[in-house]
Amino acid sequence: MAISAPQKKTAGRRGRSAPGLIFGDLWQYDPAPETADPKLKPRYDLFIDGEFVAPRGGKYFDTINPANEQKLAKIALAGAADVDAAYRAAHRAYEKVWSRTSGRERAKYLFRIARLLQDRAREFAVAETMDGGKPIKESRDFDVPMCAAHFFYHAGWADKLEYVAAGRRVAPLGVVGQVIPWNFPLLMLAWKIAPALAMGNCVVLKPAETTSITALKFAEILQDAGLPPGVVNFVTGAGATGAAVMAHPLAAKVAFTGSTEVGKIIMRSLAGSGKKMTMELGGKAANIVFDDAPLDQAVEGIVNGIFFNQGHVCCAGSRLLVHEPVADAVLAKLKNRIKVLRVGDPLDKNTDLGAINSKDQLEKIRELVDSGVKEGAELYQPPCRLPEKGFYFRPTLFSDVTMSHRIAREEIFGPVLSILTFRTVDEAVEKANNTAFGLSAGVWTDKGSRILKMSTELKAGVIWANTFNKFDPASPFGGYKESGFGREGGRQGLLDYAKLT
Ligand code: NAI
Ligand code: MG
Repeated sequence: MAISAPQKKTAGRRGRSAPGLIFGDLWQYDPAPETADPKLKPRYDLFIDGEFVAPRGGKYFDTINPANEQKLAKIALAGAADVDAAYRAAHRAYEKVWSRTSGRERAKYLFRIARLLQDRAREFAVAETMDGGKPIKESRDFDVPMCAAHFFYHAGWADKLEYVAAGRRVAPLGVVGQVIPWNFPLLMLAWKIAPALAMGNCVVLKPAETTSITALKFAEILQDAGLPPGVVNFVTGAGATGAAVMAHPLAAKVAFTGSTEVGKIIMRSLAGSGKKMTMELGGKAANIVFDDAPLDQAVEGIVNGIFFNQGHVCCAGSRLLVHEPVADAVLAKLKNRIKVLRVGDPLDKNTDLGAINSKDQLEKIRELVDSGVKEGAELYQPPCRLPEKGFYFRPTLFSDVTMSHRIAREEIFGPVLSILTFRTVDEAVEKANNTAFGLSAGVWTDKGSRILKMSTELKAGVIWANTFNKFDPASPFGGYKESGFGREGGRQGLLDYAKLT
């Protein structure tokens, strides 16, 4: 909305505002960029057997900052021979050192890793934001502290493993291969590495190709912690490197987080191999708001559920199911709320939505949003200005959505909320479960009995009540149906890295 002419003139006379000012600008804060040095190197090699080594093929690829499309560093491209060297190092470390290291000793390393990460928290948060595009307030207040929390939590378990499975003994599996995505690079690394090491396994991990930097900085922490060489190895590259990590014969178990499509390819290729597997794949979570819910709180939860990290969240509350009597009120409140979300420079401490992780992901979001408009849903986007360089997408609401629309069925993985309505509890459950996925769900209501009923009937691995996107290392996370299988976090997560004897 343009401000009225007299105001514009006054502002212009005082020389304080540019022509074409839009209403939202009146609410903008001054820029508050984070200035900590991310200590980036121009080139990152592979981390194998405790050392940084050049890839055998001599090839590197660029990683960019999606907020401004500038190159940040070059990253080693690992081929099959490098992946093999990483596995051999991990296997040696497992046989000679780690499987003979007591739980009490392993705990000390995990504690040390967590403490060293805390010491360098701001530096890691800035690096995470620059490589991936997420707002600094998230990487600073969520990703890095949660990463440390996972190492602390699992350090506590390492010498108490006899309590993981009552009446049974647990043993490590050996070497595990892990591939992670770009939405929470450090946190996904922690979810994978901390339970594996606590249980006594060794690791070969591949970060996503757009966000490898913090894994390689994390390798410096492993060196500083004195972790024995080969216990954790990082190989970098894209899909082919990931496939080599998943297929290696020395992998006793593989763990994957990423798209359902790639998860299915991996499952097919490993069928019959005897490898243990865990898969954390896509989602299309329903956030369900009943008419007795505290609506203002619910609106905050809905906004956090879908716009957190630009919607690059597998458990994002990407479908809002709202009870018909309050549907108009909730939509009006949501529109008001997203008008004041600040979209822009991820390094600015006031930014709510940062950059979309890559051009490919931005294209995917645009394509799905176009399909929503074509299929007849009603689109709303606030009139915020986006930076000219970099990959950005406005927070987007779709109302009048039906279950047959692609935006109600497919994972968009962007800041796009599809709103549907319901009349009865049964209809809410029916619609929420009518999806190929089953990772998470949210319920907003004043009634405890309704929360209990919903949480038994919803087919989702995590169900939040009167909140959304809350995490704790002690709480297992994972999906049903095409969202995958296996759990990460808690006692259940440790069991997925163990043999029961
Ligand atoms: P992706 O599944 O291709 O990438 C995830 C990881 O798997 C990356 O490290 C990648 O290098 C690796 N990878 C790719 N092909 C592989 C293969 N054949 N074998 C082993 N590893 C392989 O996901 P992408 O293309 O980055 O994103 C596409 C869509 O997937 C997104 O739009 C989103 O909907 C979904 N996604 C879901 C995630 C989740 O956490 N559930 C995370 C990332 C993406
Ligand atoms: Mg990058």
